Amino acid sequence: MTAVVPETATPLVRLTDAGKNYGNIIALRGVTLEVSGGEVTCVLGDNGAGKSTLIKIIAGLHEHTSGSYEVEGEAVHFSSPREALDHGIATVYQDLAVVPLMPVWRNFFLGNEVRKGLRMDIGFMRETTKKELLDMGIDLRDVDQPIGTLSGGERQCVAISRAVYFGAKVLILDEPTAALGVKQSGVVLRYILQARERGLGVIFITHNPHHAYPVGDRFLLLKRGQSIGYYRKSEISRDELTALMAGGAELEELSHELESAGGASADAAKILGEEVHDLGIDRVSTKEAP
Ligand SMILES: Nc1ncnc2c1ncn2[C@@H]1O[C@H](COP(=O)(O)OP(=O)(O)OP(=O)(O)O)[C@@H](O)[C@H]1O
Ligand SMILES: [Mg+2]
Repeated sequence: MTAVVPETATPLVRLTDAGKNYGNIIALRGVTLEVSGGEVTCVLGDNGAGKSTLIKIIAGLHEHTSGSYEVEGEAVHFSSPREALDHGIATVYQDLAVVPLMPVWRNFFLGNEVRKGLRMDIGFMRETTKKELLDMGIDLRDVDQPIGTLSGGERQCVAISRAVYFGAKVLILDEPTAALGVKQSGVVLRYILQARERGLGVIFITHNPHHAYPVGDRFLLLKRGQSIGYYRKSEISRDELTALMAGGAELEELSHELESAGGASADAAKILGEEVHDLGIDRVSTKEAP
């Protein structure tokens, strides 16, 4: 199950030729992007490519300075993340805003506490947290344990299920797997798919094409603030995506540079040459170190 919403439906989020200047600095320009329910859009790019700028626009942290931004067909100019959230756009940042010593359920309901009269309805919040996590496939023995005792991956998953519970339509994940090992990343990738199956539009920011490709339906590649490609999965293979991300030509240049530096760098150049080869890009000639 991929497309919950038919292709013809108005996308949840649409950016058209959108850009952002910080004074004289053009952080982003001419980006067009559509996010529909039941789809994962991966935003890939190197450091400084404009990924964070893009999500800050969508999340309501910064306003775009050119182009247009529509949510469900309506032009918007958000002036705060709260406003974006009111439109169903939730963002899970890498450095999650959790209170480590508070129980999982407290964090789940942080800022949305449920009361019964004057008191907090702890029973309800505890049970709901347990149930919601279970629905996403996370079986926590004890939702009373401090959230700080969970692994990074589990914490990301709690944040995802929280956004789903509180009615997010669009979920933005800023590099959720960047600091995680292979296994933990796998766990988070699985919840990205869970959120998609529930009909959310997911925007997944990552450096890693190997994380993006298996879960993504669309791929936006950014470089120096501009789009260098926007593909549906059927239009690009994993190898092509990887090659685009690795910047084949730049890798080759670096390889030559290291090679001419000689010594240990020549070995590095050789390795890089092999990497370039693996990516299906023309082989770089690497001489043996003297
Ligand atoms: N508040 C700001 N003021 C001035 N320039 C900024 C600001 N935020 C970002 N930039 C610039 O805009 C460009 C894009 O930055 P952005 O943070 O969006 O990149 P990124 O793709 O998220 O990179 P990273 O992978 O390192 O997080 C960079 O050149 C950056 O220096
Ligand atoms: Mg960033």
